[in-house]
Amino acid sequence: MFKDRIRYPGLEDKVMTAQEAAAFFQDGMNVGMSGFTRAGDCKAMPRALAQRAQSEPLKLNVVTGASLGNDSDGLMAEAGVLAKRMPFQVDAVLRRHINQGKVLFTDQHLSQTVEQLRCGNLPAIDIAVIEAVAITESGAIVPTTSVGNSASFAQQAQQIIVELNLSMPVELEGLHDIYVPQARPNREPIPLTHVDQRLGETAIQVDPARIVGIVITDALDSPSSALPPDAETQAIAGHIIEFLKAEVAAGRLSNSLLPLQVGIGTIANAVTHGLVDSPFHDLTMYSEVLQDSAIALLDSGQLRFASASSVTLSAAKTTQFLEGLDRYRDKVVLRPQEISNHPELVRRLGIIAINTAMEFDIYGNVNSTHVCGTHMMNGIGGSGDFARNAHLSIFVSKSVAKDGAISSVVPMVSHVDHTEHDVAVLVSEWGLADLRGLAPRERTRVVIQHCAHPDYRAALLDYVERAEQRGGHTPHILEEALSWHARYQQQGSMRQEQCSAQEAVTA
Ligand code: COA
Repeated sequence: MFKDRIRYPGLEDKVMTAQEAAAFFQDGMNVGMSGFTRAGDCKAMPRALAQRAQSEPLKLNVVTGASLGNDSDGLMAEAGVLAKRMPFQVDAVLRRHINQGKVLFTDQHLSQTVEQLRCGNLPAIDIAVIEAVAITESGAIVPTTSVGNSASFAQQAQQIIVELNLSMPVELEGLHDIYVPQARPNREPIPLTHVDQRLGETAIQVDPARIVGIVITDALDSPSSALPPDAETQAIAGHIIEFLKAEVAAGRLSNSLLPLQVGIGTIANAVTHGLVDSPFHDLTMYSEVLQDSAIALLDSGQLRFASASSVTLSAAKTTQFLEGLDRYRDKVVLRPQEISNHPELVRRLGIIAINTAMEFDIYGNVNSTHVCGTHMMNGIGGSGDFARNAHLSIFVSKSVAKDGAISSVVPMVSHVDHTEHDVAVLVSEWGLADLRGLAPRERTRVVIQHCAHPDYRAALLDYVERAEQRGGHTPHILEEALSWHARYQQQGSMRQEQCSAQEAVTA
């Protein structure tokens, strides 16, 4: 019945229901699941595990590539299946459980998870659950719309369950490039010098004897939740494009720039969309996720090649991509996230990294993860893999959140994901702060004048001037540095009453 999809002789005998496959899991196991930013995630097993947990104790440590779709994380969290979760999530229900302390969450650089597993710093994976489009004649697993950590999970796990997704076209085969670095200390350099290079095989080689179950599914990936561009995100894109044009004019970049990495979310997607009307051409991407904007750039002809670990699109773009695979086949490659995000390659290729901050401070430190320093939003994702090693590390944010009650530019960030040393450029809808080569005391004015919302500029300048009177290389008033966050928590706004909007604008 699945002859074109299960091509290894005898493996069709392993086809079973998700409920039958759930019996392989034992309380306390470490489970590696496919899925990266909602793409290529296993769809049936999380539900089956949540169901099983209703009748017997079942707590698992679940490791993925990145976020899962199909409400899987929320279902598992509600059912009490998740003891520990790593390395990334975007699910509102799971987020609530994490912030209530009911699920332990390890927020990790996405390139590092399988490296940590490989060397034994993390406990070994017992069972891998991998979504596949097919199993080849040699028993190799062909992933679907993401590779994520699936290759290493499948190679390390004692048992593998394959979710064979019949809604994913078999034409996806050939899109992936599976290369897994050797173990340390005898590792050779990763031989990738161009974004369009292929290093490995098109499927994940495993011993087919370890495939203990094959579950048939037919659900598509959850569509991307990124919102369309708005006036502010378009303004951010405009500032970045002007900045890049100036880099070209100064001879530091050519019109094809350098390979682009663009983070997840509404803002980053909108920024990439802005490149459609730019003068740049023959662009390349070396990113971890391809969003709608990347497909738009491929369609406009400006993007020559895109390398990533997953394709996370809106429903309309998913159809366009999956039905037009022949058109995209020679322009797209999907790699393990360890390779798409590898610091060695990011530094070698000279990536222009554009990621999103929730807040940044007057010295350029960035918080991308923790609301008011305590409550997890999504996780650091791959932003740190890229930011520290990029040719240009750019962070973008709207200048205010929650209808202006929160300033995204603060005296001191309440949690640090990216230190000032990893941040070259900050951008809001008001402008762009080029921090390259600036000392902390120079940075403050540039950040405030170019990026802060006018309503908050006077208060920020006042803070800087008073802090400078106390001295220091990076002047601060420690007892006041986080008072903006405390004020938001206590009064629902970071605004200081004595500083009216009008005063601030004219200051
Ligand atoms: N304080 C509190 N909440 C804030 C905030 C701040 N300073 N800044 C933004 N937010 C809230 C927004 O209000 C919004 O909340 P809502 O969902 O209740 O509406 C939410 O954060 C998302 O912000 P939004 O403006 O819609 O931007 P986004 O969709 O682009 O997401 C991040 C922004 C930072 C949350 C997201 O990019 C992220 O998780 N980044 C970290 C991972 C990463 O960078 N990966 C990159 C490699 S792929």
